[in-house]
This record gives sequence, structure tokens and C-alpha cells, in this order.
Amino acid sequence: MFGAHLAEPADFEGWRRQARVLAQREIPPGDIVWHVGDEPMALFVDQPVNHLACDPLFRLNVPREFLDLAEQVVCHRDPERFGLLYRLLLRLKREPDLLKVATDPDVHRLNTMARAVRRDLHKMTAFVRFRQVRDNAEGEVFVAWFEPEHFIVRRVSSFFVNRFSSMRWSILTPLASLHWDGTALQIAEGAAKRDSPDDDAMEDYWRTYYANIFNPARLKIKAMKAEMPEKYWRNLPEAELIAPLIAGASQRMSAMVKAAPTSPSIRHARQQSRQAELIGGTAGIPSDWVQAATAARSCARCDLCRDATQTVFGKGPLDAAVMFVGEQPGDQEDLAGEPFIGPAGQIFNKAIAQAGLERDRAYITNAVKHFKFTVRGKRRIHQSPNAGEIKACRFWLGLEREFVRPRLIVAMGATALTSLLGKATSISSLRGQITSLDDGTPMIATVHPSYLLRLPDEAEREKETARFVADLNSAKGILSALLDPE
Ligand code: URA
Repeated sequence: MFGAHLAEPADFEGWRRQARVLAQREIPPGDIVWHVGDEPMALFVDQPVNHLACDPLFRLNVPREFLDLAEQVVCHRDPERFGLLYRLLLRLKREPDLLKVATDPDVHRLNTMARAVRRDLHKMTAFVRFRQVRDNAEGEVFVAWFEPEHFIVRRVSSFFVNRFSSMRWSILTPLASLHWDGTALQIAEGAAKRDSPDDDAMEDYWRTYYANIFNPARLKIKAMKAEMPEKYWRNLPEAELIAPLIAGASQRMSAMVKAAPTSPSIRHARQQSRQAELIGGTAGIPSDWVQAATAARSCARCDLCRDATQTVFGKGPLDAAVMFVGEQPGDQEDLAGEPFIGPAGQIFNKAIAQAGLERDRAYITNAVKHFKFTVRGKRRIHQSPNAGEIKACRFWLGLEREFVRPRLIVAMGATALTSLLGKATSISSLRGQITSLDDGTPMIATVHPSYLLRLPDEAEREKETARFVADLNSAKGILSALLDPE
């Protein structure tokens, strides 16, 4: 029996090095015991893998995609993760296209575990809240408590170091703790909740900030709970505000929608063009969804940012199996900052429900993230984005696809299709078939819901709406086949 030892629970380099040695000798997965840290080695292990040499000329050709997924999956809490990855590694030697077989049980498990880890990473970057503690000798220190589900603390550490480099802080979790003194990071043992400080003045600031940024038009209680599960609420100072803010939300939203359109301030336009220099280039490409959504708020890759109220980034769970792509936000979406909540959104909601899909479980976005319009009197009239604007915004859609990695994409309308394919393409040429996108993701094309709104003839509208629902129904069928091959 072979014993493979890993320095810590998410020791990717350790797994990779030893898996290479074992794969070179074609050691069957069942002959290996993987153990972590100072867990005792099983009694029947007689060959520590660390003692075995690997031929330096041995080449193991596995797709980069597998290594990326493996790096995520080693962080998963499942004790069988190392064995699963090794089994897949051996299989990839014989079946190089294995990862494309999404229905294979090992591949399915790999993808599910990677998705769970990505979600946990996102939660930690979004829900860590620092509390200020005084440290008389060396000034102020900030401490946060967080309970991750997987072994992600080491992996997420660079995010916090980059984001809070000038503060001194500690993030305590039951699995591991991070301590940053302004210059060096220390990764230490897990901690107990009692080690983290309780309420303090910082939390008052945070609560005030949250109440100010709370957007009543974006309120979706179910989605909010899915995105910010209640188990995190007890460590969030703003949680106690949620109930009163929800209570006043519908009144505030009606007031927003009734208000006449406003022109952007000069200060806003100047700020936008300064940001253009930052975002326009390729420097500082966001490395996760939160960073992408934050950076997109200051996007000035094309001129549409000047008149739009805000960037409307995609919305939905980051482990969504299906991504819907529309054209661009409309008037109401622009005000509320959320895709598909206006008239086209109503049609979409109805159709998706008829097709038996749940909107809250889908990731919904647009090819273009700013509203394009002309003003007529008090009204802002939609204008279609041009090829340059679609091209400029492909950057963001590409990031959303990368961070959500949906199993299926539904392109609604020609703008979405053009953006996804990188060239102008008509819906009719691809409708009713599955198209594989550049990264292999299956895509289906259908009409945009606002096309149905514009059809003057009622009978025609009914017929086309039924076709739209039928397209969404086939999306559901394709998803079921991909997710549950039995
Ligand atoms: N039309 C779109 O394409 N997207 C929206 O978010 C709203 C209307």
C-alpha cells in the first residue's frame, strides 16, 4: 500500500507532485492512502510516496482545464477528493477528451465539487466583516470571524492581502486563520468564535453605509437568501437592518420609477473618463466574479457609460447551471441596476415559469451592460447597441462566463448571439439546434422577449410566445440531460 502525505488539507502542489510519481508507475487508485498533516499514517502503508523518485523526463499530458479544476477541488471538504482527482488523472491519460463528457460520474463529481468551492470562495470575499480592536502598542487591528465550508482560507488570502494591504488584520475561521501585519501574511491554526471581538463602533459605520447603498428596486428576498444564506447573517452587522429596509422597499421603489430621468453630473462624467484609463486596458483583469462586478461599475470601454445611470451586471447564483443572455438593460433595469425586471422581464418570467425553469436558479445577464437611449420629452427610448458597443462589452460577458461556467447558455436575440459568437449571426440560422461556443459550452438561440412585446398581431404574438416557451423548454431538457444523465 502506498501512503501519500499532504502538508495541509488543500495542498495542491503536494497532490500534484505525488500524483505524478504514482501515475508514472500506473499505481491503481485503490492502492493509495492519502493523508493530511499530522493525521497518523495507516498501519498497512509500507511505501511512502515521498520516498519514490520520479523520472524527470516523464511527461504527463493533462489539459490545463483539469489542473485548474483540481486546484479548486483540493479545497473541498470531501475526504475522497485526492483519490477522485488521481483516478481522473489516470483516466485522462487514456481518455484525453474525458472532461468533455459532462455525464461521466467522475467528471460530474469533479465539476460539482469545483463549483461548491468557487461558491464558498465568493461567499468569503463577500461576507467577511472586520471589527476594529485597539492594540495600544502598535495601533489598530481589525479582526473578522468567518465560517467557510471548505478549505479555502489559504487560497483566498491573496484577495484580502491585496484589498486591505495597508491595514493590520486577522481573519479567524475554525479551519485556519490569517494574520496580516501590513507587510507579511501568517497562516495559522483555526480559531474559536470566542477569539473574535464583539460589537464596536466600526459596525455603526458599516450599518450606515449599508442603509445608504441598499437599493429597494433590487430587492429579491428569495434570491437574497440564496446569495447570502442566513447562516452568515449572525456575523454581519447589517443583518439587523434587513427587516426594516425590506419593509420600506416597495414605497421607495415606486418613487424611483416615477421620478423623471436625470442627466449625469459633470463630476460623474469626469470620474467615468478617469476610470476608462484603468479599465480600458487589459491591466488588472479581475480574478473573480466580485472583482469583475465591482470593476464593471466603473467601466468606460465605450461611450454608453456617460448617459446610463449605472452598469447593470449579471445577476444570479454563481453556480447556476444555465445562463440567459439578453441585449442590454432597459429603462427600468437602468434605474434599478438589475437585468430583466421591466416589461421584457415580465414576459421572460412568465415564459421561464411555463417552461418549468426557476429564474432564481439561473444567471441572467446582458451582452451590453449600459442602457442606450435617446430622450424624447420625459421618456427615454431604447436604441439598439452597435457592433462597437457589443464588442467593447464582450469583455464583461467573457468574465461572467468564466466565473459562472454555466452548463448551458441561452442567447436571447441577435445582440446576445453576436456577442457570444463574436460575429453577427441571425437567430433564425441557429434556432432549434445546440451550438458549441469557443470554450465548448453548449448554447441555444431564441428570440428576445421584447420582440414578442412588439408584435402587433395578437395571433402572431401568441404563436411566437409559444415558440419562445418551447425553446426554453428544450433548454430545460438539455439541462436535465447534462445534469442528470440517468
Ligand atoms: N432587455 C434586455 O435585453 N435586458 C434587460 O435586462 C431588459 C430588457
